[in-house]
Amino acid sequence: MAGASLHLLKSQTLLPVCCARAKEEAGNGARLPDKSPNARVLVLGGTGRVGGSTAIVLSKVRPDLRIIIAGRNREKGASMVAKLGGNSKFTEVDIDNVASLEAALKDVDLVVHAAGPFQQAEKCTVLEAAIQSKTAYVDVCDDTTYASRAKSFKNRAIAANIPAITTGGIYPGVSNVMAAELVRASRSESKGEPERLRFYYYTAGTGGAGPTILATSFLLLGEEVVAYNKGEMIKLKPYSGMLNIDFGKGIGKRDVYLLNLPEVRSAHEVLGVPTVSARFGTAPFFWNWAMEAMTNLLPVEFLRDRSRVQELVQQFDPVVRAVDRISGERVSMRVDLECSDGRNVVGIFSHKRLSVSVGTATAAFALAILEGSTQPGVWFPEEPEGIAIEDREVLLNRAAQGTINFAMNKPPWMIETDPKELGLGIYV
Ligand SMILES: NC(=O)c1ccc[n+]([C@@H]2O[C@H](COP(=O)([O-])OP(=O)(O)OC[C@H]3O[C@@H](n4cnc5c(N)ncnc54)[C@H](OP(=O)(O)O)[C@@H]3O)[C@@H](O)[C@H]2O)c1
Repeated sequence: MAGASLHLLKSQTLLPVCCARAKEEAGNGARLPDKSPNARVLVLGGTGRVGGSTAIVLSKVRPDLRIIIAGRNREKGASMVAKLGGNSKFTEVDIDNVASLEAALKDVDLVVHAAGPFQQAEKCTVLEAAIQSKTAYVDVCDDTTYASRAKSFKNRAIAANIPAITTGGIYPGVSNVMAAELVRASRSESKGEPERLRFYYYTAGTGGAGPTILATSFLLLGEEVVAYNKGEMIKLKPYSGMLNIDFGKGIGKRDVYLLNLPEVRSAHEVLGVPTVSARFGTAPFFWNWAMEAMTNLLPVEFLRDRSRVQELVQQFDPVVRAVDRISGERVSMRVDLECSDGRNVVGIFSHKRLSVSVGTATAAFALAILEGSTQPGVWFPEEPEGIAIEDREVLLNRAAQGTINFAMNKPPWMIETDPKELGLGIYV
């Protein structure tokens, strides 16, 4: 059931009731066009790649929204506002300064938090300020510890009547919803009990993302990988367990390696699948080798130290950017579900440009919250209170805008590059 909670603008206290009634009147899953007209959306990290891309998509899809770009750099802010046009402005915010955060959130209906890195952050300052100021919230967190800490604010968010989603980007984010839909469809079609869920991700180079993504990748190499095997939590070495995965049309076969990503734990706990893991790979191939070498050669203490990793990023950044110009920024997510009756189903999502697709995906979560799909509390995307089950299809279709390949609930051969047909519909 879609929530009737915070579809309210701070200045329009009667909206929850109006929206709930309007939604009932709309009947069977029909969408209401503008549930939070003229809502004020603050995009933290809006001067960066992910936040900027999200702001651009939001302003195109919902020109009525008032978008506030927030960050520490006025020049970058002014340039983003110039791109967005009249319904936007910049405000200076440092997320480490609680007073500046709370001031920025004062007259805001929704905050999109894309000011990473989330790895090794000690507090959820933005979420706390959102709850304090009664502002709806979504972040693009890609860190397991941060996501669990965010989740621990669930009861405070419920008490404040604030809907919040953590890990609401492309991966994690859209991939969680894809997994939830594969599991739901399998159970409802009695395909046997879901037994193994595997997330596979591929991004060429940095995917056109900002310098923060490099820091994120290096910091993840310092974390043991949490995976689940038949219900047991296991810890594995980062960037190990290589598999060669077929991402199908436009991407092809790519090597992917284990990484510690939050969707593994949330999918295991929320969806109840006993075996879950996540793997990631990049291109050109030597970046994978470099990541493996860093894992093997650098001390773990170094890879967990944010300031030392930032120094490393500054040295690597020019080389990475130069290679990015050749490698492009294609992105693909493949989610595989195996069931107890031997049937396997797959979801695939591929886009030519991660920097565009991540904004489209994050904007889809922001719109879902504005439209009342999220209950008060702090939720993962695969939780029905996060994105209502009947709203998942809308979210996936919105997020999939511009993809070169998007398909759900297919047998693997249907999405793979070179299906081996033996005739009469028999494939191996
Ligand atoms: N879930 C997903 O699907 C997904 C996908 C890709 C990336 N991500 C995550 O998204 C985050 C952003 O990546 P990106 O590529 O956009 O990085 P980016 O281009 O480097 O942007 C980072 C942004 O954060 C802002 N920022 C950093 N520290 C801040 C602070 N203390 N106060 C206020 N603003 C601050 C920066 O603004 P100023 O420096 O101007 O202040 C900048 O706007 C990363 O953590 C990355 O891991 C998630």
